[in-house]
Amino acid sequence: MKRIKIADLLSQPEIGKTYVVKGWVRAFRSNRFVQLNDGSTINNLQGVIDFEQFDESILKKITTAAAVGLTGTLIESQGSGQAVELQVTAIEIIGEAHTDDVQRTVMQPKKHSLEFLREQAHLRFRTNTFGAVFRIRHAVSYAIHKFFNDQGFYYIHTPIITGSDAEGAGEMFRVTNLDPINPPLNEDGSVNFKEDFFGKAVNLTVSGQLEGELAALALGQIYTFGPTFRAENSNTSRHLAEFWMIEPEVAFNDITDNMNLAEDMLKYICKYVMDNCAEDLKFLNDREAQEQQTKPQNERNELTLIERLEFVTTNDFKRITYTEAIDVLRNSNHYKKKKFQYDVDWGTDLQSEHERYLVEKEFKRPVIITDYPASFKAFYMRANDGCEPGKETVAAMDILFPGIGEMVGGSQREERLDILKKKCADFGIHEEELWWYLDTRRFGSVPHAGFGLGFERMVMFVTGMSNIRDVIPFPRTPLNAEF
Ligand code: 4AD
Ligand code: MG
Repeated sequence: MKRIKIADLLSQPEIGKTYVVKGWVRAFRSNRFVQLNDGSTINNLQGVIDFEQFDESILKKITTAAAVGLTGTLIESQGSGQAVELQVTAIEIIGEAHTDDVQRTVMQPKKHSLEFLREQAHLRFRTNTFGAVFRIRHAVSYAIHKFFNDQGFYYIHTPIITGSDAEGAGEMFRVTNLDPINPPLNEDGSVNFKEDFFGKAVNLTVSGQLEGELAALALGQIYTFGPTFRAENSNTSRHLAEFWMIEPEVAFNDITDNMNLAEDMLKYICKYVMDNCAEDLKFLNDREAQEQQTKPQNERNELTLIERLEFVTTNDFKRITYTEAIDVLRNSNHYKKKKFQYDVDWGTDLQSEHERYLVEKEFKRPVIITDYPASFKAFYMRANDGCEPGKETVAAMDILFPGIGEMVGGSQREERLDILKKKCADFGIHEEELWWYLDTRRFGSVPHAGFGLGFERMVMFVTGMSNIRDVIPFPRTPLNAEF
């Protein structure tokens, strides 16, 4: 008989029918009740075993973490906690669990800290929390593809190995197959990358944007969805060295179109998760609510996870310029009482304490900040016209989310060749390195705009997980590349 997934069985249970299910034992009580989970849903199926009908030697192998197959008749459950259960008629032990070893793992049925679970990332998929997180991660990924596909965007695969540093922050991982002990050298003692695999120095990409723009300026509207790499040494709960980014790029869009697209996308994702991941979401919602109970009153979230998602889907994001944000911050009591660690001054980047204040205290909703000073934004952002000298701004936008900080960064792009060339010079970027990028401004250049969504930060928001290491299967962070 063919096995059925537990999710399918539970969604259309037929009382009296015989089923075969296969999965991993979560618990076995009183030599009678086995809780089986097969990953298709957060819900276990309860198998009821009449121990007199089975060999002692078989029953002994039904232990936590063991893989078993159960055949039986579906009946209405006699106990509480589940609507149906399987009256077991045959048991197949598929993979035994080494009981002593289970004790040292996260599969031991008790509450484990997220830190301990991280050390056992290879086994944490087996827990309810991580089952829910990774099912939702999948759903978010699918929702993003669906959102763009439904609007006629093309998914473009941009290279992972590249010679350019799109963001200009210099936080790149070099890719080379030169001998690290005896690399070929130039006369001045520097490494001669002409002898390297690609005949030039290359690195893992920090963003697919520049190549994405090339495609958008022919195909009209595209998006990328791939891994990106940053060698920034920031050991925070929001940074990974390897993370996934979604980067749409649209020809003829201006900064307002860009904001609308991003807001629509973020709302769509939240709604998709509420509509399609209800059980996992409910589990994570309750998990977070319980965790909140252990915190002091003033540190608790005002809204539950589900309420936060509902809030995002039903309320407009606040849109303000950087200059307005600086005014709001400087006029706040928080500032006057000197409660910010960093000063607030036009021309310096906002620190995360400032962003949090705006989102969590002042506006209490996602905030889109636009028109940042040109000095600390990337070279490709479009220069705003008519700025006061010394107060030049660019058509940038950052979207800040409660509890997360920067979720999206984007801009309208500089489409004017002369201004872009000057920007390159100001930023110390050699035109020869970006000749292909500049070429698009030579042949029918048009206004266009795009943004980057940090995929893991979005998954954090919709799962309520507060550490980015807990929303990617195998996190890569400074000094950590286990698994
Ligand atoms: O703001 P960023 O650096 O923008 C870009 O890379 C642009 N090329 C995007 C574009 O316009 N096409 O990064 C975009 C987003 C951030 O807002 C943040 O959500 C996420 O990527 N991000 C990170 N997520 C996890 N770990 C890191 N180290 C991240 N750095 C950025
Ligand atoms: Mg940014």
